Amino acid sequence: MFLQLLAFMIAIGGSVLGGPINTPGFPAARVLSQLPKETWLESIVVRRNGDILATSLFYSSNVFTVTRPSFHTDNKAKVLASVPEVNSLLGITELPASYGEEAFFFVGGNFTSLTTFTTTVGSFKGFKLTFDRYGKATVKKVSDLAPISSFPNGVTAIPQAPGSVLIADSFVGAIGRLDLSTGHYDPKAFAFQEMTVPEGAVLPIGVSAMRIKGSYLYFGNPSTQSIYKVKVDSKGYLVKKAQPSLVANISSVAPGLDDFIFDSHGNILLATNSPENAIVHVDVKTGKSKRIIGGPTDPLMPDSTCLAFGRGIFDTNTFYVSTGRNISDPTTSARIVAVDASLLNY
Ligand SMILES: *[C@@H]1O[C@H](CO)[C@@H](O)[C@H](O)[C@H]1NC(C)=O
Ligand SMILES: *[C@@H]1O[C@H](CO)[C@@H](O)[C@H](O)[C@H]1NC(C)=O
Ligand SMILES: *[C@@H]1O[C@H](CO)[C@@H](O)[C@H](O)[C@H]1NC(C)=O
Repeated sequence: MFLQLLAFMIAIGGSVLGGPINTPGFPAARVLSQLPKETWLESIVVRRNGDILATSLFYSSNVFTVTRPSFHTDNKAKVLASVPEVNSLLGITELPASYGEEAFFFVGGNFTSLTTFTTTVGSFKGFKLTFDRYGKATVKKVSDLAPISSFPNGVTAIPQAPGSVLIADSFVGAIGRLDLSTGHYDPKAFAFQEMTVPEGAVLPIGVSAMRIKGSYLYFGNPSTQSIYKVKVDSKGYLVKKAQPSLVANISSVAPGLDDFIFDSHGNILLATNSPENAIVHVDVKTGKSKRIIGGPTDPLMPDSTCLAFGRGIFDTNTFYVSTGRNISDPTTSARIVAVDASLLNY
């Protein structure tokens, strides 16, 4: 039955159902979901059932969802949960399955200015989003983080340590480690000069995102437009005396650098933010980087913030990009863009 359906979808090229199975000549990217006015998305993940979750940085502290993104042409983003204790949400990550539970972790806090990125120091918190077996979502605060927490940004789970997460704080310039069961937070679990903002940097935003891959923690620093890696053990602790090494310097390719993921070849795809408005591919072996979709004058993904690969039946080659909006045009709003990576040449 499933194979028949799949064969049928391939035969019609996916176009009738609007799925991302494209025949040659179909565009690689499309706007999956245009959110209403006054929305700005920051982070995106895909649930194991294929549904999308995205957090909102400005105008609201909502978690939005798009259900079954590869099945419809018109995908409305619905509010799944609101978090009234804070006014902004940032990074979200899936927690490794424990006891069969489906759970995510995200951070939020108070931003007082959209243009200067001013925050209320100490207002940041960590939250757990859990789905029960009927699919009902519950949000619970798990930690007040640290008094110095001032711009917790990207977050990542540790594959072999489901009880902890790592949080990149872009103003502290360090990566913290949070124990989810006790709420205890060490804001400087990883504190390297490569995570901080160098004197005179144009963009005063330090380490903003990280991922664990193999025996390395990879992290990106927007203020130096660089990605580094440092050796960690299987529980996500720094290997004694390990020092960061440069993976790529993308300054010649894009002025910005936000969240990133690994593709099926183990290379990095990263969102650049505004004004580059693009996704950049980084070869982790050579450091060679290039823009693979979007661009400064391309209206497709203004202020690309984060991306995640699909996990549904038809969209495992598709990555979904969350966006802020066109910063010069307040009438624009956030969107989620679907990009079929198999149709990009890189
Ligand atoms: C953060 O913002 C929320 C929502 O506006 C507000 O209720 C809360 O008091 C603020 N917290 C701090 C520490 O300012
Ligand atoms: C990245 O490259 C730019 C341009 O060559 C250079 O100015 C900068 O120092 C480099 N940054 C790092 C961290 O290597
Ligand atoms: C953003 O908005 C400005 C002002 O309307 C416009 O000139 C510019 O082309 C837009 N940029 C993109 C990438 O769409």
